[in-house]
Amino acid sequence: MARVDGPPHWQFRYRAGVALAAVGDGGSTLTDGAETVTFPQLRPTQVAILERLSTGVSEADLVLIPATEDRMWTRLALGQLLTCQLLDRHLVDGDRTIATVQVVGLDYRLNGRVPDSDAVLRMSRFAAVRQQDGDLVLESPLSRTRVVLADWRAMTALAQLGNGQPVGRIVWPDGINPAMGALLATELFREGFLEDATTGDTAGSELDRDSHAALSEWAFHDLLFHSRTRLGRHRQAYGGTYPQHGSREPLPAVKPPGPGEGIALQVPKLEQLRQTDAPFADVVEKRRSWRVPGPAPLTVDQLAEFLYRAARVRDTFRGSREEVTSRPYPGGGADYELEIYLAINRVDGLPPGLYHYDPGGHRLHQLAEWTCAVSRVAEQTARKAPPGLTADVTFLITARLMRLTYKYESIAYAVALKDLGVLYHGFYLTATAMGLAPCAVGGGDSDAFAAASGVSGTSEPQIGEFLLSSRDLAELPVNDTLKGLATDSPGTPTAITWPARKVR
Ligand SMILES: Cc1cc2nc3c(=O)[nH]c(=O)nc-3n(C[C@H](O)[C@H](O)[C@H](O)COP(=O)(O)O)c2cc1C
Repeated sequence: MARVDGPPHWQFRYRAGVALAAVGDGGSTLTDGAETVTFPQLRPTQVAILERLSTGVSEADLVLIPATEDRMWTRLALGQLLTCQLLDRHLVDGDRTIATVQVVGLDYRLNGRVPDSDAVLRMSRFAAVRQQDGDLVLESPLSRTRVVLADWRAMTALAQLGNGQPVGRIVWPDGINPAMGALLATELFREGFLEDATTGDTAGSELDRDSHAALSEWAFHDLLFHSRTRLGRHRQAYGGTYPQHGSREPLPAVKPPGPGEGIALQVPKLEQLRQTDAPFADVVEKRRSWRVPGPAPLTVDQLAEFLYRAARVRDTFRGSREEVTSRPYPGGGADYELEIYLAINRVDGLPPGLYHYDPGGHRLHQLAEWTCAVSRVAEQTARKAPPGLTADVTFLITARLMRLTYKYESIAYAVALKDLGVLYHGFYLTATAMGLAPCAVGGGDSDAFAAASGVSGTSEPQIGEFLLSSRDLAELPVNDTLKGLATDSPGTPTAITWPARKVR
């Protein structure tokens, strides 16, 4: 089998770290430690092909394989090795590698799609270039591969494809001839990084009509987040791998409280609540979002009862590699990374201001008075829940992410968001049982919270907000009376006249 070094071409080569070994029955096995492929009972010509893959086998080499059955076997073997992520494809020109295509997703299959000869190609809006481990890589949640742009000249193609360009009109720098450029552009199209600017065809046959329509509504960051926090389209380490174990201490299970002694909150009598609470079925059935603060302010004892029932630490114990706690709501890995801050606007018995809840000591620690920055955070949050009246208490919830990244890879932020939803529901049910007015809020300004609180938006970003007030019995349950009213949209709905009550 003669080696063709002439024009630029794609070459199959084992990924770094893949080892080839003979097995007893005349077969060979290939492994990178994680994946293993075994080919039993091979002919010497087939063993030679597997050996050649250490240095590189090109398409032209494949055509030169003498026996038809060896050619067919090689095609199948290459497909299997690609699917198992043991093989990469390199675009080479002499001894230069221009780009390397690495399979990262499950169930990968080579496809033979080529763009129409007159197609105008542009970069997919889901594709992104970034630095990773010293390489410049092109990635997309639509692709089961990533492309290492090994030579800077490969980037020049992408730089011209923001707005669409026929392949023949792409200008290539010295060192990349048009034939090589066409090979690269075709490959990038094939793997979903380039799309047909006229049809918007990104992933070709993989997508049916409905999926195409759905894809057009996905935001870039949503699809990236989705694909990277689920299994199947990346080869990141995933789940509870404890990546930081041994290199740093875990964050404490409960954030060290402070500043000062704080304000001790009353502990409610759970025995009594067991007798007097509404039945669970009633609590669930009566749960609603209430957005109008009642005539009387919330009291400090109501707030204390609410926090104790919904968010306190019930118990602390040693987990396998870190201390964990038990709380009234479930939490990923019992890590309990969520921290609860309260912008207290109107609570009988507490001066207005910004507080942190210490769930271990069941205490509040004041961080700031009712400053302009605090009031702005509370008002901005209220504006997202018509009629936009500042709640008695605006909960501002952060996540101590390093609590999660000590244990989890790939999913830490996703776990925090799931935990947040769980906390919201606990808040809703507790508030309903207590006859208070709860309302979740769908978004906010994390930077404004960081500025108001001094809490780092990097190590402890604010990820959620929730309103709690005393109930106004005159408030109508919006969704029950006005079917179809979008209560999540900002701005006061024109269809209802909201009571014009001034709060504080
Ligand atoms: C995650 C989440 C975000 C929400 N965001 C808002 C919001 O920004 N503004 C608002 O008025 N209501 C918000 N809500 C409340 C929903 O509008 C409400 O739950 C939904 O309309 C159903 O009504 P109900 O809670 O009264 O049964 C949110 C609820 C959840 C769970």
